[in-house]
Amino acid sequence: MNLNVLIGEQKLQERIKSLGKEITEYYKEKTDTIHAVCVLKGAIHFFTDLVENIDLNVEYSFIHVSSYSGMESTGRIRVKSWIDEPIEGRHVLVVEDILDTGQTLSYILGYLKRYNPADLKVATLLKKTSKNPIVNAEFVGFEIEDKFVVGYGLDFDEKYRNIPYIGYLE
Ligand code: IMP
Ligand code: MG
Repeated sequence: MNLNVLIGEQKLQERIKSLGKEITEYYKEKTDTIHAVCVLKGAIHFFTDLVENIDLNVEYSFIHVSSYSGMESTGRIRVKSWIDEPIEGRHVLVVEDILDTGQTLSYILGYLKRYNPADLKVATLLKKTSKNPIVNAEFVGFEIEDKFVVGYGLDFDEKYRNIPYIGYLE
């Protein structure tokens, strides 16, 4: 299988830096501490690079869910692990790798809302433009075409996660 570059390393890092600034600006009048929730496994690289560029105290939580099998979303969400700290009254930022149909996020947000956070926002590295996701992300790194992408955390059957750029398969 051939891997083509969609977003190179430098472009990724530059955008994540500016996204970190946008996020800092948004919160800084509201709070000095946010609670960032990394959606594993795909968002791991984006999460670590993003939080380093947020100029606030950032608490971490990790959620592990899966819905994909190969290149297709199964529509069934499996929760493998969940947040372990209370988020009531906190400013919560969910960090996702890619917004496709939005089913995964919709599920996660629905549950997190029940804990009554003060604020609940989403940062996603990628968003597929052609899709009309059922949930919205306030902070989007890049809008991309409807291609199956891998790298920088994103996988195809657990492969290609450790590639430092966003590529696509043909
Ligand atoms: P959604 O529930 O359809 O929005 O799918 C979101 C999840 O599916 C993401 O968190 C990814 O793990 C996975 N996913 C969606 N599109 C892609 C892709 O192009 N490459 C790799 N994983 C993807
Ligand atoms: Mg995946």
